[in-house]
Amino acid sequence: MKLLASLLLTLSSFSLLAQEADLPSDFLSKNFHKERREKLRTNLPPNSVAVFFANPVRNRANDVEYVYHQDPDFYYLTGYKEPEAALLVFKDKQTAANGTAYNEILFVQPRNAVREMWTGRRLGDQGTKDVLGFEQAFNNSVFKRYNVDFAKFDKILFFDFHNDVRDNPRDSSDLYDLIAQFKAKVKYPEKNAVSLSVEPVKNNLDMKGLTDQMAKLRGVKTKDEINMIRKAVSISCLGQVEVMKAIKPGMSEREIQGIHEFVYKKYQAEDLGYPSIVGAGHNGCILHYIDNYKPSVSSKELILMDLGAEFHGYTADITRTIPVNGKFSPEQKLIYELVLKAQEEAMKITKPGTPFRLTTDTCRAVINRGLVQLGIIKPGEKHLYFPHGVSHHIGLDVHDRGGSIMEEGNTITIEPGIYIPDNAACDKKWWGIAVRIEDDYLITKDGYEHLSKIAPRTVKEIEDMMKQPSAFDNFILPDLDKLNTKKQN
Ligand code: GLY
Ligand code: MN
Ligand code: MN
Repeated sequence: MKLLASLLLTLSSFSLLAQEADLPSDFLSKNFHKERREKLRTNLPPNSVAVFFANPVRNRANDVEYVYHQDPDFYYLTGYKEPEAALLVFKDKQTAANGTAYNEILFVQPRNAVREMWTGRRLGDQGTKDVLGFEQAFNNSVFKRYNVDFAKFDKILFFDFHNDVRDNPRDSSDLYDLIAQFKAKVKYPEKNAVSLSVEPVKNNLDMKGLTDQMAKLRGVKTKDEINMIRKAVSISCLGQVEVMKAIKPGMSEREIQGIHEFVYKKYQAEDLGYPSIVGAGHNGCILHYIDNYKPSVSSKELILMDLGAEFHGYTADITRTIPVNGKFSPEQKLIYELVLKAQEEAMKITKPGTPFRLTTDTCRAVINRGLVQLGIIKPGEKHLYFPHGVSHHIGLDVHDRGGSIMEEGNTITIEPGIYIPDNAACDKKWWGIAVRIEDDYLITKDGYEHLSKIAPRTVKEIEDMMKQPSAFDNFILPDLDKLNTKKQN
């Protein structure tokens, strides 16, 4: 038995080493995450503990799960990318039964040679210590018996649960159990439970405070985060550039989406910050159009492309709208330049101290004036041609946590748009024109840095870029129908 155990230990340390060697080396450092926890601890109220849970694994269908994505708060504070985990950050030093002092603990899924063979490598408790620098890291099965006296805290901060986490019957300490055990430890009041208990529950549960705490932290990006966002933004801009060169009438929306996403992968972006929006003609009027089903985009149409690469957790959010045939029609150009003017006006007020809603108000004023001048609306007329706000934070989330007034170190978007669906109450020459222009900015001491400026943005820049040859011009695949017909004959 001893021999077997030591063999298993050797095997598991071997695969952990292999994991380190195989990974990119430019992730955020363990010091980044540690420093973020320190900062959170500084801001926590006296005599408190903050508790975070990993994102659940979600089922896609039958025995296929959705690709796992860590909860951004959890990743920000730990660097841990696996499920079934919980983090406790204490305001003050705690003392364990054996006399060890600690102020944070991470509970993680255990190493398991068989599971790892099927679903991938795990850090386990020791790996979490080695790779992520936690002094106190335990397998999640330890949480149940881990003696934290939650009653002694004035505040236990956590995000309320959505009760949509499935239990894995073969695992008695998965996320479902971690949450159930935590609820029992803190006497969490189940909303629908009929309780006959008269035992007073100390009201130290705070399910609201972490929203502000995390917004304060995550809204202002560190130098390392800004570097990640720069990469995500540049990769996404290059996707737009390649599509501008490659697009031709007759391509499908999905094929155009594929060119963007191929560029992302080529630059090692692991994921998308959100599902890609690629809408030709009136499909562009659907603000979050992700079907991307149109089989053949027409030469007369604009195509609205809102996509963001996610690089090491950080996402861009960029929209370009271009004419499929390489040249804006007079009506398309008028609408496009009105949206561009709105964005330029909003950029003029983009600096520390500006409330986010002001960029929306500014764009709205420009667009309303312009729509009246073009005869599309009457003065003062209510309309739905520009139904959304224009600025939000970006970071680990595409709609990232952050404050409502711009501060140095914020990374934000400005994204005005005009959407005129078919059958709108205006001259039909405008129908099917949908334009959004969305760029990403870093708020600096005196203003902003335009992070996404390498993606052509003016009419001339776009038309010039679209004249360039593309590497995809020669990427011709066999016609599937012909291939299949040939096989049948
Ligand atoms: N892509 C989502 C947004 O622009 O906010
Ligand atoms: Mn956006
Ligand atoms: Mn967007």
